[in-house]
Amino acid sequence: MNGEVLTLKVAETADREEFRQAVLDGLARSPRAIPAKFLYDARGSALFDDICGLPEYYLTRTETSILRERAGEIAALAGPGCALVEFGSGSSVKSRLLLDALPDLAVYAPIDISRQHLDESARRLGRDYPALTIEPICADYMVLPALPAIGHAARRRLGFFPGSTIGNLEPADATSFLRRARRLLGEGGALVLGADLKKDPRLLHDAYNDSAGVTAAFSLNLLRRMNRELHANFNLESFAHEAFYNSEEGRIEIYLRSLCDQSVVVAGRRFTFSAGERIHTEYSYKYDLAGLEALARSGGFTVGRTWTDPAGLFAVAWLEAIP
Ligand SMILES: C[S@@+](CC[C@H](N)C(=O)[O-])C[C@H]1O[C@@H](n2cnc3c(N)ncnc32)[C@H](O)[C@@H]1O
Repeated sequence: MNGEVLTLKVAETADREEFRQAVLDGLARSPRAIPAKFLYDARGSALFDDICGLPEYYLTRTETSILRERAGEIAALAGPGCALVEFGSGSSVKSRLLLDALPDLAVYAPIDISRQHLDESARRLGRDYPALTIEPICADYMVLPALPAIGHAARRRLGFFPGSTIGNLEPADATSFLRRARRLLGEGGALVLGADLKKDPRLLHDAYNDSAGVTAAFSLNLLRRMNRELHANFNLESFAHEAFYNSEEGRIEIYLRSLCDQSVVVAGRRFTFSAGERIHTEYSYKYDLAGLEALARSGGFTVGRTWTDPAGLFAVAWLEAIP
């Protein structure tokens, strides 16, 4: 086994052990909950890409249109010679709009927890941008202590956190994330943040309950992942995806609901579910512009600019690190 393969095996074993611990803790808790980051194995990431193309999922096309229109302005604010650090980069599709616009980019560092998907996306990007230095970082951005030696020569570090991924974090975690990003980006750092806005709950409901059932497949994939990686025996037919907007909390809530009384073995432990019992898998918080500004400030940033689409569905904000 060569060194690179061995390092990968060690990393995959650590990933699996973290998943096992989180699942066993999450299923033993009441109410049951598994952190959303585990939705993204290779298949989960591919399904998320499919979600991005759904007619009901206005988020991706709306954010992309804002970024396309504002890429020049963002590049002017960033200036030449930046290091671009993306949090939760997925397939790095929107990133290309910034890569094309930013002058003399020193390095692009995509950070994602989905190891195989990150490697494949970085390889594709390398083929399309042969002159660009790409430093993929497979890590949990909630605990990443420092950026490896990237962009030392860069004039400033520019963070990019699109996709309404900030919405998956509960407010206190969103603040912790921003504080960490502020530290990682350093003095003079800036962050381009994409956040979904509060709107007609019917639009929100449809975005997370698409008619083709892709979002349901994405949710249920968590059970499939447990079956594969943790020797679980979930019957995917006995659980259903459930997503609804909680207007009091200003968030979409997503669960896997047990359709009958049943028991399941996961990593050698038995768990019983009664009909209707749920496992929480994800939140997607929706913001208004005042809430976004307050969040930015709590995380050590000020909002320099905010751009929205004409219908006010989505916001992209330029945040600057408070010195
Ligand atoms: C909602 S998707 C957004 C993907 C892409 N940025 C976009 O805008 O389409 C969230 C991405 O963040 C990654 N992710 C989720 N939680 C993470 C964590 N704690 N650390 C690192 N990456 C994470 C997922 O693997 C996924 O690629």
